[in-house]
Amino acid sequence: TPAGRYEAESATISRGVAESNHAGFSGTGFVNYDNAAGAYVQWTVNAAQAGPVTLRLRYSNGTAVNRPMDITVNGTPAATGLAFAGTGAWATWQTKTLTVTLRAGANTIRATATTANGGPNVDYLDVQ
Ligand code: GCU
Repeated sequence: TPAGRYEAESATISRGVAESNHAGFSGTGFVNYDNAAGAYVQWTVNAAQAGPVTLRLRYSNGTAVNRPMDITVNGTPAATGLAFAGTGAWATWQTKTLTVTLRAGANTIRATATTANGGPNVDYLDVQ
């Protein structure tokens, strides 16, 4: 079973940086996306067998502006423009869930910012 926690700071980061200056994160920090469309975090999740799982992304957004992201699984869109609304403060974390289907073996799950503001700060991906 691929169930477990996949920290963002341990994932592949394109145009973002691991930081720890806002409290409440899991692991050793979170990812601060660059303020740019196309910035992403990508996790690899190994599944023993194909099937549906629930993904839970933990994030914060200290602005009042939504920071939508596209979620892809193995390059295929699973959610387009998924909303990551303001959480009130960078140290206030919330979660967003979606259901996706994994294949047997290695799966890449990518969360890509779609606006010039970049993504929210992302703490982890839980696979349930
Ligand atoms: C601030 C904040 C960062 C955040 C950034 C942003 O600089 O400290 O954690 O990532 O704003 O707007 O993306």
